[in-house]
Amino acid sequence: MNFTEQIKEGIHWLGVNDRHSPYFERMWPLPEGIVYNSYLIVDEDSVLIDTVAEGSDSDYLARIDSILQGRALKYLVINHMEPDHTGTIPAVLERYPDLKIIGNKQTKRILDSYYPGIGSFEEIKDGQEISIGKRTMRFLLTPWVHWPETMMTYLAEDELIFTGDAFGAYGARNGAIFDDEFDYTSTEDEMRRYYSNIIGKYSKFVQRALTKLKDLPINCICSTHGPVWRSHPEWVLDRYNKWSLQEGEPGATIIVASMYGSTVNIGEYIARQLARAGVREIRFHDVTTRPLSYIISDVWKYSGLVLGSVAYNGEMFPLMGQVCQELEHLGVANKHLAIFGSGSWNGGGVRNLLKFAESTKLTPVSDPVEMIGRPNAEVLAQCDVLAHALAEKILS
Ligand code: FEO
Repeated sequence: MNFTEQIKEGIHWLGVNDRHSPYFERMWPLPEGIVYNSYLIVDEDSVLIDTVAEGSDSDYLARIDSILQGRALKYLVINHMEPDHTGTIPAVLERYPDLKIIGNKQTKRILDSYYPGIGSFEEIKDGQEISIGKRTMRFLLTPWVHWPETMMTYLAEDELIFTGDAFGAYGARNGAIFDDEFDYTSTEDEMRRYYSNIIGKYSKFVQRALTKLKDLPINCICSTHGPVWRSHPEWVLDRYNKWSLQEGEPGATIIVASMYGSTVNIGEYIARQLARAGVREIRFHDVTTRPLSYIISDVWKYSGLVLGSVAYNGEMFPLMGQVCQELEHLGVANKHLAIFGSGSWNGGGVRNLLKFAESTKLTPVSDPVEMIGRPNAEVLAQCDVLAHALAEKILS
């Protein structure tokens, strides 16, 4: 990219769109790409906040040069060590060998493991401040949002905070860099998918970070991904609070694994009964066709969770097993759960979905529905009971 953007007097955006990588972390689909945001503060001392992925922008250093106009770059603050934000550190240090790297004890440990002996390092503690002229940087340690070293950098004079991955989103910037240059609410789905895939496991640490931010005046949030939130920072803070508490919206995510149609047919029937009962938001996912990333995002969105699996060698269907394993790994909580399944002799789908319920401490809203072969009137009547119990919980 060959342009930069001033966020406030002396604070510059240096984002890089990645429209080539098919997956984030080689796992999560990026149909609309992703942006890596880096920032440059020009004061009496100049400070680079995070860098960008290695090889993502051949103009990155030239963009820094164009802003600095020959001034020295005194500091590089590393809010987060994941390589999508640190891959360009060697190149930056080659260009500005006198700069000092700022991070915390954990940053140093990880930095040394990636780049042994690189640069000079100044370790900061939680709440420590460094003056750079008209401004003072305050460092807030926010471990595990997303890695153990993650921290944020606050500028009280500007009421602006650089937050690392927190408040980020999938999606490259399509021209609009600031939240007031497009319909910012359209970011919600890709922001929640990013949150649930990447940060959701660490939700209790997100709550701790939000508590730290609670009394700070913040009028601008600069994340390493997504837009710059200069007009609606409270909207983003609200969503992070809700998602980290796993406060689902009224609605249901139905996830099915079927081989010869019985299980999916029951899923369709339950979906219909939920709609009849007044549940307005229903998402339906077949594990064989829907990427895990989108399934997780919907699970995070809605308060109702319906799992249906055919038996497979006495277990649940393997792809359903993968979904359950990932949900358990991410710490899914606060869901109204309903379970159903089918088999051809002695089952296995329902039996193992119940083990998932037990290990995640999600209590099913009613007895599971399990059938052998194809659904009959008795099975459908059991589905009515299940759907009614679930709808009541979702709408209460
Ligand atoms: Fe954007 Fe945790 O890296």
